[in-house]
Amino acid sequence: MYKAPRGTSDILPEEQGYFRYIEERAAELCRLYGYERIDTPVFEDARLFIRTIGPGTDIVEKETYSFEDRSGQAMTLRPEGTAPICRAYLEHGMHNLPQPVRLYYIASIFRYERPQKGRYRQHQQFGFEALGDADPALDAEVIDMAWRFFDRIGLSHLCLQLNSIGCKLCRPHYLEELKVHYSAYGDRLCPDCKARLLRNPLRLLDCKKPSCQGVAQSAPRSVDYLCPECGEHFESVLRYLFLLGIPFEKNHRLVRGLDYYTRTVFEIQPKGEAGAQSALGGGGRYDDLIEELGGRPTPAIGFAAGMERIVLNMKEQGVSPPAPSGSKVFVAYFGDEAKDEAVRLIATLRRTGISAFSSFGDRSLKAQLRQADALGASYCLILSEEEVKTGTAMLRDMAKGEQRRVSMGDVVGQLQKENH
Ligand code: HAM
Repeated sequence: MYKAPRGTSDILPEEQGYFRYIEERAAELCRLYGYERIDTPVFEDARLFIRTIGPGTDIVEKETYSFEDRSGQAMTLRPEGTAPICRAYLEHGMHNLPQPVRLYYIASIFRYERPQKGRYRQHQQFGFEALGDADPALDAEVIDMAWRFFDRIGLSHLCLQLNSIGCKLCRPHYLEELKVHYSAYGDRLCPDCKARLLRNPLRLLDCKKPSCQGVAQSAPRSVDYLCPECGEHFESVLRYLFLLGIPFEKNHRLVRGLDYYTRTVFEIQPKGEAGAQSALGGGGRYDDLIEELGGRPTPAIGFAAGMERIVLNMKEQGVSPPAPSGSKVFVAYFGDEAKDEAVRLIATLRRTGISAFSSFGDRSLKAQLRQADALGASYCLILSEEEVKTGTAMLRDMAKGEQRRVSMGDVVGQLQKENH
């Protein structure tokens, strides 16, 4: 027996409502904020991700699904959504459009991670990016949009964590200080952190091992090393967030897992569960990324949320997607003539926009009614030879358990009335 690959899962019909609900809330939100949808390929040139996410990151070192295609080109299944958007921005000359260009996506993401609750090898992200503007008001817009998104979904007890990790001018000095601090604790660090100290010191702050957490606690804070421009930018972001009434917590250890970030970084997490594992979404500025890909200097900022984690939180908080609207009609029949009439009637109902179906075959009426109930039909139309002869049918209201005789000519009209 084959099974879905480890870390992946089927989204069964009963789960689909959650995902459609999230997608609808996302599309509504994007319309309000002026973001337009973009879809990029599931795989890209492998170099795009190595270059942007960073060669020393876990994602690039351990988690990409990469393969050589039949022409020998190295390809990678999308491990995140931002780099492909920047590639598309450049490829389609979007710098010629009015800036910032506001885009959103709903996309499958692939990361070879150790599967656990809320962490999968294939997941879906809703993300949005605003490209071509450095204004801190845009940071506030993106953060506000992320915050309001969860509100629209109906999730509560969340907290917004915020930090600034500076730019390529001020960060090197900070990283030096960070290395000095961590070097003093060399023996106490976990093996991963020993490697990070050499290759990616910013990520030291993110280590979840208790032995390293104490070291992170007393580590120098990036906000204390910002250059005047980055400092001013961060102050303005905070001011706009106050203005918009967005509650936030400064988190000096928030650094994110991708290397492209500059200045503002933020995450939204369930309250009291701080830690990357539980983040519902995260984002930040990436002012150098487009230039890194060969474009003109183009500041940008974005955010992405994991849809599976949202569903987990919806279930934990008892938030259900609304039941689908409109009634479903099950057509039950017995006898060959009645079956012909049923086939005709189902087609007519569907053409008029009413969801109608039957189980076909030759089950007893009782079995058919049981099936109608199990399939959640709101009405059942019962056709027998007798009724067909007299041009009538029985219309049964499944919730009330009541039925009445209706003339065939009136069936569609009656059901249309009930449908509204
Ligand atoms: P990220 O923090 O790597 O950021 O992922 C965004 C969100 O995707 C996470 O907060 C989490 O909810 C979800 N997620 C990540 N990995 C997994 C996984 N293995 N299983 C389930 N859910 C997961 C980015 O990807 C950036 N591109 C976000 C961004 C957009 N930054 C700027 N613009």
